[in-house]
Amino acid sequence: MKSLVILISGRGSNMQALLKAKLHVDSIAVISNNPHATGLEIAEKQGVKTAIVDHRAYSDRDAFETALVEIIDSYQPKLIVLAGFMRILSSRFVQHYQGRIMNIHPSLLPAFPGLDTHTRALQEGIKIHGCTVHFVTSQLDHGPIIIQAAVPVLPNDSEKTLATRVLQQEHRIYPQAVRWFMEDRLKLSYNYVEVDETSFNQTVLY
Ligand code: GAR
Repeated sequence: MKSLVILISGRGSNMQALLKAKLHVDSIAVISNNPHATGLEIAEKQGVKTAIVDHRAYSDRDAFETALVEIIDSYQPKLIVLAGFMRILSSRFVQHYQGRIMNIHPSLLPAFPGLDTHTRALQEGIKIHGCTVHFVTSQLDHGPIIIQAAVPVLPNDSEKTLATRVLQQEHRIYPQAVRWFMEDRLKLSYNYVEVDETSFNQTVLY
């Protein structure tokens, strides 16, 4: 079974890019910790199964994650993708899905983990910015890098224009990474990910 679970918290544009990519999977389910996530509505309109596990309904992170694991496992996913899922996950959770959980982050990791990546990039005056898809480890926005896309930072960029340029690339590289995984083309050794495909680069330039 090649089933895919997508975890979201909000807008869901990366989720949409994944749905649009027509991946060769048997089933897709979208789960949100936020009942008001606009991505949920978009998924439902496309006939995709959705579920809500509202973190605010649980006494602590352990209880929330126990409920989340239960519902994720009910779909028996080959891969779990975090697509703007804004909850910090415990090492117990991450270990449960070790090697089959991915995240997308709006910076060229290991630069700018955490929040407000575009504002921080502008403040630092960097000239090249981008996004990263990586396997998830218990360290936030850290883990073996699968693919990165780079974009220029232009002289008149605002946080918004830069975010838009990066997001376009996010929508390009996340489906690619998921496709590779689903086709068993990713080889992970220690902190290094290799792709068994010569025609596509793990470095994408704008
Ligand atoms: C994306 O830019 C994603 O890279 C970022 O949240 C946004 C979600 O947008 N994720 C992180 O910052 C994770 N550390 P989306 O809901 O439209 O996909």
